[in-house]
Amino acid sequence: MGGDPVKGKKLFMKLCVSCHTTEKDGKHKIGPNLHGIIGKTSGTAPGFNFTETMKDKAVVWDEKTLNDYLEFPKKFVPGTKMAFYGLKKAEDRSDLIAFLATLK
Ligand code: HEC
Repeated sequence: MGGDPVKGKKLFMKLCVSCHTTEKDGKHKIGPNLHGIIGKTSGTAPGFNFTETMKDKAVVWDEKTLNDYLEFPKKFVPGTKMAFYGLKKAEDRSDLIAFLATLK
């Protein structure tokens, strides 16, 4: 997808950091820690109380699934408790995913 991780980090600091940490073994906030999220199965971060729908979804997070989730979280995972309206611009999503891909 070729997003820009530097722009993605800025977006993350603006839109996601209130609920998510990114460092290795970082603590969970309102949302789960997102270190190494790419390649993980949804709803499996240890010690975080996910909704049943997120666990049942059991999707592997990659560029495609993250793109779908971040575009419209409540459509991709109906009933998710992630209170985020979604990122409408494809470019913003690909920048953000490029940043998430650096968290390993
Ligand atoms: C208001 C708080 C909040 C905001 C803002 C938020 N999230 Fe979340 N996020 C959550 C919660 C809560 C969950 C767990 C959802 C569930 O269990 O249904 C979650 C789950 C996730 C997951 C799935 C994690 C997993 O281990 O399966 C990803 C990926 C994610 N968020 C990315 C983001 C990104 C990227 C942003 C910024 C664009 C963002 N979130 C903004 C609260 C938030």
